[in-house]
Amino acid sequence: MAKVAALKGIFNFRSSLSSTPKKSNGHGGGSGSHTKLKRRLSLIDSDECAASKGHGNGFPSPNGTINGRPGSKKMRLQSARDAERSPAKGHKRQAPVKEQREKLPIALGRDAIVEEIRRNDVTILVGETGSGKTTQVPQYLLEAGIAGDGVIAITQPRKVAATSLAARVAVEQGVPVGGLVGYSVRFDESTSNSTRIKYVTDGMIIRELLSDELLSKYSIVIVDEAHERTLRTDLLLANLKSIIKRRNAGEGTSKGGKEKGRAQRTNPLKVVIMSATLDAEKFSKYYGNAKVLYVQGRQHPVTIYHTAASQQDYVDSAMRTFYQIHTDWPPGDVLIFLPGQEDIENLEKSVELYSKRLPVDIPGVAVLPMYAALPPNQQSAIFAPAPHGMRKCILATNIAETSITIPGIKYVIDTGKCKEKRYISRDTGTGFDTLLTKDITQSSAMQRAGRAGREGPGYCFRLYTEDAFKSMPLSAEPEIRRVTLTSSLLQLKCLGQDLEKLDFIDKPEQDSIASALATLYLLGALDDSKSLTPLGRTMAHFPLEPTYARTLAASFEHGCPSEILSILSVLSASSKLFIDNTDTREAASESRSKFRAVSGDHMTILNIVKAYEEIREGKGHEKGKAGRREWCKRQFLNERCLSEALEIRAQLRGVCERMKMDWTVSAGEGNDQPVLKSLLSGLVNQAAFLQADGSYKQIMGPSIVKIHPSSSLCDKKVPVILYDELVYTSQIYARGVSAISRSAVQELAVFKRRHSD
Ligand SMILES: Nc1ncnc2c1ncn2[C@@H]1O[C@H](COP(=O)(O)OP(=O)(O)OP(=O)(O)O)[C@@H](O)[C@H]1O
Ligand SMILES: [Mg+2]
Repeated sequence: MAKVAALKGIFNFRSSLSSTPKKSNGHGGGSGSHTKLKRRLSLIDSDECAASKGHGNGFPSPNGTINGRPGSKKMRLQSARDAERSPAKGHKRQAPVKEQREKLPIALGRDAIVEEIRRNDVTILVGETGSGKTTQVPQYLLEAGIAGDGVIAITQPRKVAATSLAARVAVEQGVPVGGLVGYSVRFDESTSNSTRIKYVTDGMIIRELLSDELLSKYSIVIVDEAHERTLRTDLLLANLKSIIKRRNAGEGTSKGGKEKGRAQRTNPLKVVIMSATLDAEKFSKYYGNAKVLYVQGRQHPVTIYHTAASQQDYVDSAMRTFYQIHTDWPPGDVLIFLPGQEDIENLEKSVELYSKRLPVDIPGVAVLPMYAALPPNQQSAIFAPAPHGMRKCILATNIAETSITIPGIKYVIDTGKCKEKRYISRDTGTGFDTLLTKDITQSSAMQRAGRAGREGPGYCFRLYTEDAFKSMPLSAEPEIRRVTLTSSLLQLKCLGQDLEKLDFIDKPEQDSIASALATLYLLGALDDSKSLTPLGRTMAHFPLEPTYARTLAASFEHGCPSEILSILSVLSASSKLFIDNTDTREAASESRSKFRAVSGDHMTILNIVKAYEEIREGKGHEKGKAGRREWCKRQFLNERCLSEALEIRAQLRGVCERMKMDWTVSAGEGNDQPVLKSLLSGLVNQAAFLQADGSYKQIMGPSIVKIHPSSSLCDKKVPVILYDELVYTSQIYARGVSAISRSAVQELAVFKRRHSD
């Protein structure tokens, strides 16, 4: 309700965002490392100058007036007239694609770039956002014949970037996606034998290493957005370093005789590292003083505004700024960056609620959310043009921060917040990843601004002060230093590599390695001498976290893969199944009672999946999409999670089929034990014994935990529990809980092993 109250002040928000004049000379910062980054990034310098010189302070009106009469009728009518004149027509007609390509800043450097890449094994390319790196460089290299008969891979940290860039480059080449230009991302691939330019996620190319350790079908690997320093990018960078040594020096494979060695000399690898915001010197040094190329300039300016005062409520500020743009500024779509799904959903409600109250002469607003948990078809909706006469308002997490061009976006609103994954090992035995909201880095701020100004001049409204920008760290800490390494360690073991010995650009912490080794040993993926077991190799084939991969492997031993696949798919979905808050908890528990299983939450999930499937098959009273939605709402269930889970399950069944594992085997109705035993095999770190006082003590860790009030076992006392996760509030709660027997724990090989030690 607080949000609704805030809406009332909608036409007064300008004063809250534009206040004291800014004394800045327009330059985004002072000395030291910031200047170093600026030298690489002329974009922000010049644009901040433009903002400061042109308007002096705060967020102005497009005509240059800073504080027009808030909410004045004249102002609104004027905006409406502008919009009427050209709502959809507001966008200039785009030039033909060939002409657009030639106008990109990178086109001027085409010959020089091609020549340097021809000459060097590794090249580092830094160019401003929108200058044409990702779309053009692969085409230049293909057209210049540098790729020979091989494929050019361009890696992206995110799926949506890989698929949308492949679509764009296919258009530029005048071919369908999946032909000359294709993509490959987790659970989706569009390539063929004729594919020569392939956009891939960094995770997919790491997976390819498992079947081809020299990546021999690729003649060029372009590591794009390398500044993001995801764990997978770092793994890839380290592997590319050793692949170059082997392929380009012609040492052959480990088994390689002379024949092989000679063959590989004829198939050298070229690596290109790209980004708009990269510490180029660091990468250059890592690759033996590799050549660094800078692409100057951008096609369209981006004017950047900062607030004069810091904002307390970034969701509310974003809403006000959006409506300021909507009522005062010329046509053009808006992209708002928020930290996470919850904020996006709140803002979506606020913007929609207010848009219904807009005067009739103001154009409508099409609100589109964009976050990782959304199904791919909903994500791709952001690329479609706004409905006629409406303004698109995209609410995104940092999934839209780098790489992509969203047609129509002229304005970016940056809240300055993001969610960061961080591993916490505190009191939990082996630890877990958390997602915490925090301030972004300068590099992120620049990337976000760079999503505007791609088809014409753009504007970026930062909901933080210029001083706040200057005090942000230049770039984020690499993921390898802050997330759990279990999954990567398993993949590396399959490649015969040692995480401790690999030549990373930044080394992982020794503690993280030790914790990952311990977890894999407990799961049975490694033996006493830290070597990969056959079970470990099977686990690595499933695109699941190692704990769940172990559960799935165990389900084949216990005869219940059919049930486990349904449960794991829900647990692997990016949003939660149970809509849970304190106010509605009782009602939710009541309405879900028909699904409740005696053993707890996991079998309850299975019952829900079965019921949902029946409804989808038209067996219930609820018909069609609306019926399903209504059904989910009544039981306080998240339909998005269920529909995503069914997609994940289909993919996992496909993997089992490829591995010749019969996933159709079922334990049969009401047979909980095999399912629970399988779960325990994976969640062995996540089990606790009942204590005399009714709390539970972790089996493998020191913590005392309580069952979360949202669990169906909340008020029960059972000898042993296993749980999906721990939640920290005033105490430690276990969420997603099932009861298991003591004998099930005692039967587990790892405990037997422990006792015999
Ligand atoms: N889907 C698209 N629709 C329209 N124009 C596009 C599209 N994709 C790219 N472009 C045009 O091509 C330009 C270059 O895009 P590209 O992705 O190659 O830039 P980049 O240098 O890689 O930027 P970034 O650093 O942000 O990733 C864009 O600024 C835009 O003008
Ligand atoms: Mg790019």
